[in-house]
Amino acid sequence: MSEPIDAVIRIVQVDSEYWQFRAQNAQGQVMASVSLRCLSECPCVGVIFHLATLEQYRRRGLAERLERELESFARQKSIGLLISTVRVGNHPCRLMKEKLGYYADCQWLNPRTDHDLVLYRKVLSLSVDS
Ligand SMILES: CC(C)(COP(=O)(O)OP(=O)(O)OC[C@H]1O[C@@H](n2cnc3c(N)ncnc32)[C@H](O)[C@@H]1OP(=O)(O)O)[C@@H](O)C(=O)NCCC(=O)NCCS
Repeated sequence: MSEPIDAVIRIVQVDSEYWQFRAQNAQGQVMASVSLRCLSECPCVGVIFHLATLEQYRRRGLAERLERELESFARQKSIGLLISTVRVGNHPCRLMKEKLGYYADCQWLNPRTDHDLVLYRKVLSLSVDS
C-alpha cells in the first residue's frame, strides 16, 4: 500500500434498509464507496455491494477503511452476518475480504453474466452454541 489518504466517511441512508458509505476528500469528491442492505425478510443479514475506489485513489487504504466502518455500523444495527459476492478472478477484492476476516464459502456461476462468483461471509455475532 502507498501512503494512506485523508478521507471523511459519510453514511448516507438511501432507505430504511439501505445505506451508502462514502469516502470523500476535502473538496467533497467521493473517492470510494460501498453499499449495505439488510434483508427485509431477515434484517440480521447484511449484503455488501457496489464497492469501488476511483482508480487514482487505489491502494491507499480507502476500501479497507470503508469496510471497517460498514462493519462497525452493522454491529450497531444488530446485523449478525455480513455477506458479499466477488468475482473469482478479482484478486484485489478477494485479498481484501480475506484480510478483513471473511470466509470464502462457495463458488457458483452467475448464469446472467457468465461470471464465476465466490460468496464471502463474516459472522459478527457468534451463536451461543459455538
Ligand atoms: C477492490 C478495490 C475496491 C480495492 O480498493 P482500494 O481502496 O484500492 O483497497 P485498499 O487500498 O483499501 O486495500 C485493502 C487491501 O485490499 C487488498 N488489495 C487491494 N488492491 C490490491 C491489489 N491491486 N493487489 C493486491 N491486493 C490488493 C490488499 O489486501 C490491501 O491491503 P494491503 O494494502 O495491506 O495489502 C478496488 O481495487 C476497486 O475499486 N476495484 C474495481 C471494482 C471492484 O472490483 N470492486 C469490488 C467488487 S466485489
